[in-house]
Amino acid sequence: MQRVGVFDQGVLEPATGRDLTTGRADFIERAQTRGELFIEQPYGLYSEANQQTWRRLYRALAGKWEQHAHPRFLDGVTRLALDPDRIPRLADINRFLEPLSGFRARAVSGYVPAYLFFDCLRRREFPTTITVRDGDRLDYLPEPDIFHDLAGHVPMHTDPAFADVLVRFGEAARTAAVRARDGDCRRVESALKALARFFWFTIEFGLMRRPDGDGLCAYGSGLLSSAGEIGHALESPRVQRVPFQLDWVVNQSFEIDSLQPLLFVVDGFDHLEREVLRLERWLGDGRLDNVAPGEPAVSREDLRSFRPDAR
Ligand SMILES: [Fe+2]
Repeated sequence: MQRVGVFDQGVLEPATGRDLTTGRADFIERAQTRGELFIEQPYGLYSEANQQTWRRLYRALAGKWEQHAHPRFLDGVTRLALDPDRIPRLADINRFLEPLSGFRARAVSGYVPAYLFFDCLRRREFPTTITVRDGDRLDYLPEPDIFHDLAGHVPMHTDPAFADVLVRFGEAARTAAVRARDGDCRRVESALKALARFFWFTIEFGLMRRPDGDGLCAYGSGLLSSAGEIGHALESPRVQRVPFQLDWVVNQSFEIDSLQPLLFVVDGFDHLEREVLRLERWLGDGRLDNVAPGEPAVSREDLRSFRPDAR
């Protein structure tokens, strides 16, 4: 689905497979065939079209960030020295990032099974996609790409309070995994839905009250990496923006392929951390064993990642 025409139409070379375009990169296919999840970033494979896509995305988002992003996100963009014109090297990003919060971006070849992903956060590693979306479909995000991961997520990771929230989230997933050892599949699936919904409505699509108390701003990466989504989230009268309520969030379905009609607002990073701690308690005491059915679907691979001994 092409969402909104906010991009200039540059002259694009077709992707050949020799570059790093999402869904068409030979390098990634070979890594996946070999079963390699954690990989290096083969920087020389980015084509001029890939670089141009980064530039166009950055240009479309920079003004929106000034208008709508949380101030700590803007600080993060500066602290990481994100280059508007060139795709960043992960090694350069990590040189700035690690001293600030202990986090580092780690290149992956594709989908990271749920528990492995959450456990990386617990260890202050952020699995990072290295491919770049197709230049013909700039605002369509069926799957993450390097712009979503590096420009949408990582600037927030420079903030120690936010980084601690991610670690706590990883701890919550661990609590769910420990409990999953003697739980039936349905219970594990329920816990996984709760975790995924919490992550979606906070880390991916979270809104926060502005620190000066004047209105709302975005701290979720799905908003911060989409020119269509961020304006819609903060300006559209059709979006329902409600105060964060944990029991609502963990039971709320969502769709990944349309503009989000419902968003949850937290008061600040302290509030977010308290809610993650509450999530962990609820997972531990069985309160999330029967959340509402609906999206997201939980794959067999995700289930297995929480119960490696299960078949
Ligand atoms: Fe994301």
